[in-house]
Amino acid sequence: MQDTNVIELKHICKSFPGIKANDDISLDLKKGEIHALLGENGAGKSTLMSVLFGMYEPDSGQIFVNGKEEKIKNPNDATRLGIGMVHQHFMLVGCYTALQNIILGYEPATKFFGFLKPKDVRQSLLDLCKKYKFEVNLDEKIDDMPVGEQQKVEILKMLYRKNDILIFDEPTAVLTPQEIDDLMISMKELAKEGKSILFISHKLNEIMEVADRVTVLRKGKCLGTLDVKSTDPQHLSRLMVGRDVQLVVSKKEAKPGEDVLTVDKLCVYSAEKKREVVHDVSFSVRKGEIVCVAGIEGNGQSELVYALAGLEKVRSGSIILHNLDTYRYRRLDKNGVEKPVSGFNRIASDNIDHVRRVSREAIKCFFINSYRHCVSLFNKKKPFVPYVKKQYFSPKPESAIYWKETAQRDAILRHNAREKLKAKLHKDYQPNFVGADWKGDQSLRYVNAHLEEMTIRDRSIGGISHIPEDRQKYGLALDFSLKDNLVLQRYFERKFQTLGFTNDRAKSEYANELIKRYDIRSSLGGSTTVRSMSGGNQQKAIIARELDRNTPLLIAVQPTRGLDVGAIEFIHKEIVKQRDAGSGILLVSLELEEVMNLSDRILVMFKGEIVAELDPKKTTVQEIGLYMSGAKRMDLKTHKDIPLSEEGGKAHA
Ligand SMILES: Nc1ncnc2c1ncn2[C@@H]1O[C@H](COP(=O)(O)OP(=O)(O)OP(=O)(O)O)[C@@H](O)[C@H]1O
Ligand SMILES: [Mg+2]
Repeated sequence: MQDTNVIELKHICKSFPGIKANDDISLDLKKGEIHALLGENGAGKSTLMSVLFGMYEPDSGQIFVNGKEEKIKNPNDATRLGIGMVHQHFMLVGCYTALQNIILGYEPATKFFGFLKPKDVRQSLLDLCKKYKFEVNLDEKIDDMPVGEQQKVEILKMLYRKNDILIFDEPTAVLTPQEIDDLMISMKELAKEGKSILFISHKLNEIMEVADRVTVLRKGKCLGTLDVKSTDPQHLSRLMVGRDVQLVVSKKEAKPGEDVLTVDKLCVYSAEKKREVVHDVSFSVRKGEIVCVAGIEGNGQSELVYALAGLEKVRSGSIILHNLDTYRYRRLDKNGVEKPVSGFNRIASDNIDHVRRVSREAIKCFFINSYRHCVSLFNKKKPFVPYVKKQYFSPKPESAIYWKETAQRDAILRHNAREKLKAKLHKDYQPNFVGADWKGDQSLRYVNAHLEEMTIRDRSIGGISHIPEDRQKYGLALDFSLKDNLVLQRYFERKFQTLGFTNDRAKSEYANELIKRYDIRSSLGGSTTVRSMSGGNQQKAIIARELDRNTPLLIAVQPTRGLDVGAIEFIHKEIVKQRDAGSGILLVSLELEEVMNLSDRILVMFKGEIVAELDPKKTTVQEIGLYMSGAKRMDLKTHKDIPLSEEGGKAHA
């Protein structure tokens, strides 16, 4: 590291409506230095880096590059000055391949006519991948890639441009531990080559390992720059959050109850990868326990979750959510006591699908009966009493509820008869019976609901919450306001709508409550467009929405991705609280520390199969690593290891 400053930011201020994101921040970057930026979610790190990269113009302040003051008006100016940036929210074109994205705007072309030199491009990219140990399929479309791979494309895109000043905005949030280690080594090498690096991360151990100096931000203000060698993680987290943070989760022994979710011999075929990505997976999640799925990314965990949540089709096998009704028609009265929902409210809050189904049924009956009517006339018999009339315009036509319930009961009886017949015809078929107690709470009860054919909405109402892996693609409607995003799963509930019109006041009140409880920071509260929020706060919004529904089953994929240490501590506590309240939790995490910390049971996935079931108290990170890499495999019935040679390389099939 040399003493010359390549970048100097002086008194940078940047405001957005309702918030001062950067308030008089000064920072310098030396040649060959790795300078970390640390700060809680919404502290203004990405904004400051975007100012340096020319994406935002600062309200005031100066930027010096190599000692000379520069006005960086757009990213082209920044590129000209040798500044490159890996963005927290990727700037990739979804329908282009990795290769097209990497070279976009920097295409090597022939001197005459500007033809692209495809061979040169590919070779230089392959060299880059080899040098930095990145396994990326250059011909795969971005839309088809998991977020971890997109992150690698984003990094390659910057490295390909051969800049001298590199900004990494949270590059490690979605990488696997091994990839993070490789990236750390690469960053050190780049610094040795004389490049200067600005590195944003919430993971204090990474900062301690790789950075020379660290600048801490809080609520848009700079708290100072420290030498990494003279500090420790506890001190840094205290400085950043303003209080002591407990990095280890304290939780009581789990008391698992009956099954909430049972997955049996599940197989999922991926059309993109053109192979079976989940093979013969069976497991269950019980009430009051946290089950973690560990594994190296790309071993089928994502697809398993997609199948459970309804984002991917199931090829064979079954997914059963037990006692679906208890959530669907539940309501809390003023005193917080659970009550069955009355018939009329149920009509109001029930989903429109059902009404459609009934009307379709009525039309069908009408045609069948008209036909029968004609036949009976033709035969000169007594006219047939139309079935439609008897069933739907009932002896009690004054009651709309009666009408609806008769139709529902009818649908249920028909459904059960169909299931019975299918079970008779196919030996292996698992009937999906629906039960109903008409005299009691009048609720529809799926005894064992098979989810395979259910819509995402039905699964969600039925009792599954899902914190998805890709927050921007599946978790949020980015151009909707925060409050709309917070009711995305429940806007049709009676609380939030009257006769089909959404109730803005109810939404705002609810949003304000969640914003306060989960400390979601944004410029304009509930009215903020989610796209403009900081990455960590977007994640917090999803977590708030999903945790607040208190569903019997919570599926959480990398829930603490991109969160600061204070927020991680809070979210871990909330997940444990939900477990203790009786929910079953399926957690998918790439971070073994989180897996060991939170789980009550660990399932390890390798090449689409579950290869081990472990007790976190009786295992070590090293042992999990062996199962994750396929070096070991367990018989799930006896919980004894199978020698790989005997098993005939099944794991490597
Ligand atoms: N384009 C924008 N319009 C309005 N507000 C914005 C915009 N960009 C950022 N903000 C606000 O500025 C604040 C700082 O955001 P920034 O993205 O810099 O945070 P951050 O430190 O990177 O946080 P994280 O760790 O969550 O990524 C946030 O409150 C955010 O809502
Ligand atoms: Mg950020």
